[in-house]
Amino acid sequence: MSKLRFPRHILHVDQFDRSQVDRLFAHARAMRSIAAMPGEGRLRGRILATLFFEPSTRTRLSFESAMLRLGGQVISAESADITSSAVKGETIEDTVRIVESYADAIVIRHPQGGITDAAAAVASVPILNAGDGAREHPTQALLDLFTISEELDRIDNLTITLAGDLRYGRAPRSLAMLLTQTDGCHIILTAPQGIEMAEDVVATLEAAGVQYEIEPDMVIAAAQSDVVYVTRVQKERFPSEDAYQQARGSYHFTDLHLAAMKPDSIVMHPLPRVDEIAAAVDADPRAAYFRQARYGVYIRMALLDILLGSGGGMVA
Ligand code: CP
Repeated sequence: MSKLRFPRHILHVDQFDRSQVDRLFAHARAMRSIAAMPGEGRLRGRILATLFFEPSTRTRLSFESAMLRLGGQVISAESADITSSAVKGETIEDTVRIVESYADAIVIRHPQGGITDAAAAVASVPILNAGDGAREHPTQALLDLFTISEELDRIDNLTITLAGDLRYGRAPRSLAMLLTQTDGCHIILTAPQGIEMAEDVVATLEAAGVQYEIEPDMVIAAAQSDVVYVTRVQKERFPSEDAYQQARGSYHFTDLHLAAMKPDSIVMHPLPRVDEIAAAVDADPRAAYFRQARYGVYIRMALLDILLGSGGGMVA
């Protein structure tokens, strides 16, 4: 396999072109068999640091699982917003200058958009953005598109509904922008009033020539879609409790929506869910959201293997 240039830091989805996406997905497929047989030790002797200034279940634990399955080790500042020296006023730049002495790559989640760019600007080791405020969640978007690839056997010529909190949700923002790397994609935006997709993302879709439409009725959207991607209303990013309560609960994906969907379509959600997908939907084979979380391990294994090992990439 020939070498492919790969970003040194994983900060935004616009760092990836189609050939890099295809290569990453091929590598993630190879990681599935390694994940089933940890111990090969591809990253033996390497250390990953995870610094999470916001809560997480999937992203932190799947990055840590990915590193351990590759034979590496992990050091972690969980709840770094209350347990790290950031509490004493240490900047992210100084934190990175210290942690890079302890680890070979650093995964950061932080409530401030753009902070992983600041971290990468001073870092001598790869920085991986695990979600920066309401801005981006690039590894989530990569695993989301990988899920579509594995579940539907293609990523081109698909109709994809993005539903829920499209303004504050960093996952649908990143996924919408990554979909510019697919061909023939048609995006349906289904959001409560006030939390529609932000103008910068819409401008990115327009500039890339991606077809999109706004359809407030999720049944109509679901009936046309190969993928319905439901998201949580991001309570923690609303300016007030009142604004959150107004938006909350306007979108619930239920049996009604499922009944409208095609038999070979899928329902996705980056999770965690609160109540935006009814539990009754879980048993339907089209409910792909728990499988989606597992695909995240393979994508994060592939990213770590490429950035830190001999994973078939050439880090730019
Ligand atoms: N999807 C996602 O980012 O989940 P966590 O917040 O649990 O990491």
